Amino acid sequence: MSSTQNPAPRVPITVPSVANRKVRDGSDPLVMVTAYDAPGARIASEAGVDLILVGDSLAMVVLGYDDTLQVTVDDMAHHTAAVARAKPHPLVVADLPWLAYHVSVEDTVRNAAKLVRAGAEAVKLEGGRKRLPMVEALVDAEIPVMGHLGLTPQSVHAMGGFKVQAKTSDAARILIDDAKALQHAGCFSLVLEGVPSEVAAMVTDAVDVPTIGIGAGPDVDGQVLVYHDVLGIEDRMAPKFVRRYAELKQQSVDAIAAYAADVRGRAFPGPAESYHLASDVAETLGLYGSDT
Ligand code: KIV
Repeated sequence: MSSTQNPAPRVPITVPSVANRKVRDGSDPLVMVTAYDAPGARIASEAGVDLILVGDSLAMVVLGYDDTLQVTVDDMAHHTAAVARAKPHPLVVADLPWLAYHVSVEDTVRNAAKLVRAGAEAVKLEGGRKRLPMVEALVDAEIPVMGHLGLTPQSVHAMGGFKVQAKTSDAARILIDDAKALQHAGCFSLVLEGVPSEVAAMVTDAVDVPTIGIGAGPDVDGQVLVYHDVLGIEDRMAPKFVRRYAELKQQSVDAIAAYAADVRGRAFPGPAESYHLASDVAETLGLYGSDT
């Protein structure tokens, strides 16, 4: 059998294999993309990404809210399960939504367990040193944790908007210390969002776990983008850090408009898209010229 008929099985992507992926040690950068349902997970998996993030960006790009604060653990579990049902090859990480890890350590572990039972192989949470007890409890419960520093969308009101963070030397030092503390508490990787490239490079240098950037420049150990941004499905906002690789919103509008025009012009469905009676049955019914 040729190799195209029987491709070599892909090496599983696991938390320990991700935790080792530092560009400075010769690794290729990690590729993470968000997905929120089974078709998105299949597409990401066939495209060969390393990690799928079931992000709480779900709230904004799928559910139509203005910020990420509106999604619940049940919403996240529902979408994590849809992603997991596709049995994707990438590691599946699910976001703990706002208030899922702010009230108590016990609450945090129970909420994370719901995401793991839905199919997540790791969870992500936002914030620095004030989250350490939660991170430690999750790691103790054998739930791998990805940290998230910088522009943390769940703090939109506290930050006064979706603003680039760590722009002063003091704030940069705090961010680096937070990153070290999260690593020490057991995070296997860190998302750095909306920070100057120079600061992201310093954090990346300061920690042994991989950093995955979004709006954090090139000097990190990987990149993450939101599915709907990469594919141009979300075309209302164009953050500076997004590169669109397709214009699926416009292509979709054009395709649905063409379908509507065909229906209205009686051009759809045609014979090939219709079922037909066998000719003997059609004849019995007094119809002629029908076939299967
Ligand atoms: O929810 C999300 O999509 C995220 C990424 C932007 C990192 O947290």
